[in-house]
Amino acid sequence: MTILDRSEWYDIARETNWTPTFVTEEELFPEVMTGGLGVTRDKWEKYDEPYKTSYPEYVKIQREKDAGAYSVKAALERNKLFETADPGWISILKSHYGGLALGEYAAMSAEARMTRFGPAPGMRNMATFGMLDENRHTQLQLYFPHEHCSKDRQFDWAVKAYHTNEWAAIATRRMVDDLFLGRDAISIAIMLTFAFETGFTNMQFLGLSSDAAEVGDYTFSSLISSIQTDESRHAQIGGPALEVLIANGKKAEAERMVYQGIAGAWRLFCVLTGPSMDYNTPLAHRKHSFKEFMQEWIIGQFERSLIDLGLDLPWYWDKLVAEFDYMHHAYQLGLWYWRPTIWWNPAAGVTPDERDWLEEKYPGWNDTFGKCWDVIIENVVAGRMDKTYPETLPILCNMSQLPICAIPGNGWNVKDYPLEYQGRTYHFNSEIDRWMFQQSPERYRDHMSLVDRLLAGQIQPPDIGGILKYMNIAPGECGDDAHKYAWADAYRVNPFSKSAA
Ligand SMILES: [Fe+2]
Ligand SMILES: [Fe+2]
Repeated sequence: MTILDRSEWYDIARETNWTPTFVTEEELFPEVMTGGLGVTRDKWEKYDEPYKTSYPEYVKIQREKDAGAYSVKAALERNKLFETADPGWISILKSHYGGLALGEYAAMSAEARMTRFGPAPGMRNMATFGMLDENRHTQLQLYFPHEHCSKDRQFDWAVKAYHTNEWAAIATRRMVDDLFLGRDAISIAIMLTFAFETGFTNMQFLGLSSDAAEVGDYTFSSLISSIQTDESRHAQIGGPALEVLIANGKKAEAERMVYQGIAGAWRLFCVLTGPSMDYNTPLAHRKHSFKEFMQEWIIGQFERSLIDLGLDLPWYWDKLVAEFDYMHHAYQLGLWYWRPTIWWNPAAGVTPDERDWLEEKYPGWNDTFGKCWDVIIENVVAGRMDKTYPETLPILCNMSQLPICAIPGNGWNVKDYPLEYQGRTYHFNSEIDRWMFQQSPERYRDHMSLVDRLLAGQIQPPDIGGILKYMNIAPGECGDDAHKYAWADAYRVNPFSKSAA
């Protein structure tokens, strides 16, 4: 039997469009689910996916990938990494699993929407594989942390986080619900695969995999690179969709979707990846600062892909790039200070050597963020631990659900960006967050932030105990300092040396 080469049959076989006779075209692909923006089906048939594969090829490769990841895990099961790794690295694992495992599951639903309602046959093919990919990613990232649950129940948050009202989980769900679950097929192709995956996760997973290898966590490294190879394939769904929209006079609409996708993804990336890279990663293993990473990948690579498609940079580009200097430092202060409210143990990351590194990478750090850490350090050294814990919540952004914060100390620029809408005042962290809200206020207007809920009496008692109960954080799950404050010893020896001379 002769077997045809894929290239000989693929183009014919993928043309699975037909003319419906029992229902109308609009009933088969309702605009609310497809989001074709009036571009007709024959135009969508021009969609040309850059990565072509067949089901047998896909299954064969995926089987090998799964076998690889699981066998590395099994082979290293007895190694003592969990006991010997720096606690900052363990915290990265916990925040990653809780923040992402069920996000992958949501991404599977998003891919499923493109599989059913995508207007182009090639998109539906790609998304079918993407859907299977995301299912695999969910399974892997629920299974791998499970072995640690018996030793440390914070790992249980891989499953638990999305089912709680914990604040970081709310912020993550907000983004996932908005960009992955609550959109039509074309918006998902652009916001999830093009903006979120090409712009952020694909690069992050590359970085994370090499960081894991660097600290000797080969299990996590192989898990992440196994996932990343899938991402780099299905992230290509969005590019050709943008090309079809641009070719059919929908450039402005396409840009608007890209800009919303980037803005939505950036906040979450900033709060999870920024502190992981610049504070939780042990100093000896840091290759790039978060800012350098963002400049290289997001500015160097992603900006290029926007320009190559003929898209203008977002109106907020300069503002977003300016945030590379400070926003994640502000989030880190919040993560550490509100540590009982998160499911991992944040590393402070402010030993004298680490402060020198921060000052070198972010000139002026000691005069701004360092001023806040000075107070925290003084309290820790003096044993006034009660002063290092929160008593209530910070003001939250009604878009990102993250604290409204910016630069403290001598560079103070913290500001609320309010908006009156239908009799309610909303608060935003930046012009970008406010612009997001204004794009479709009806999507966001009824949501109450944790602070709104606290003020409305939904959290009882309205103190930190009531807040932890509301967030479903059990005593053994509360975050605390990753290194049990050992980093403060350097300041106990010489309390006046805030930075190595
Ligand atoms: Fe994924
Ligand atoms: Fe993905």
